[in-house]
Amino acid sequence: MSEDTAQLRIRPLQDTDLGDITGLDEKIDGKYRPEVWEMRLGYYMRRDPEASLVAEIDGRVVGFMLGEIRSGEFGLEQPTGWIEVMGVDPEMRGQAVGRRLAEAMLAYFRGRGATSVHTLVDRDMDGIAQFFIALGFEPAGLTPFVKELA
Ligand SMILES: CC(C)(COP(=O)(O)OP(=O)(O)OC[C@H]1O[C@@H](n2cnc3c(N)ncnc32)[C@H](O)[C@@H]1OP(=O)(O)O)[C@@H](O)C(=O)NCCC(=O)NCCS
Repeated sequence: MSEDTAQLRIRPLQDTDLGDITGLDEKIDGKYRPEVWEMRLGYYMRRDPEASLVAEIDGRVVGFMLGEIRSGEFGLEQPTGWIEVMGVDPEMRGQAVGRRLAEAMLAYFRGRGATSVHTLVDRDMDGIAQFFIALGFEPAGLTPFVKELA
C-alpha cells in the first residue's frame, strides 16, 4: 500500500457523491454527463443503498463501484451479486483502489447470501478483463447476445 492509499476509506455511495463521480467519469472518459450519473446513481441507491461503494482519501472520491444483488434473472435462481459500473481516478490506478472496492462489495454480497458474483466485460476496453482475472473471476457460461434496433 502506498502512502497515498494508506488513508483510503471505502464507504457506501451517497447522493452527494454525484458531483465527484461525474467529475471522475469526465476524467476517465472525457465526457461531462451529470444527467446520466444522476439517473444512474439514483437507480443503484433505490435498488440497494448499501451495495454501491466509493473510495475516498481525505474526503476526495478517487473511485466508485456500482452493483446490486439480483435473483431469478438470466436463469440464475440463487441471489447473485453483479458488479456493473466502476471507475478509478487515472492518477490513482495500480494502487489497489479497485481491488479494495471489489473486495468490500464481494463481502457485502456474501453477507447478503449471494453465492457468486457476475460482471460483463467489453473486450474492447483495455485492462478490465485483466482486473477481474486478478480478482479471481473466470469466464462464465452466460453468452451475451445483442441485436441493433435501427
Ligand atoms: C479497471 C480499474 C477499475 C482498475 O482499478 P485499479 O485501482 O487500478 O486496480 P487495482 O490497482 O486495484 O488492481 C487490482 C488487480 O488488477 C490488476 N489490474 C488492474 N488494472 C489492470 C490493467 N489495466 N492491466 C492488467 N492488470 C490490471 C492489477 O495488476 C492488480 O492485480 P494484483 O492485485 O494481482 O496485483 C481501473 O483501471 C478503471 O477504472 N478503469 C476504467 C474503467 C471504466 O472505463 N469505467 C467506465 C465504464 S464501467
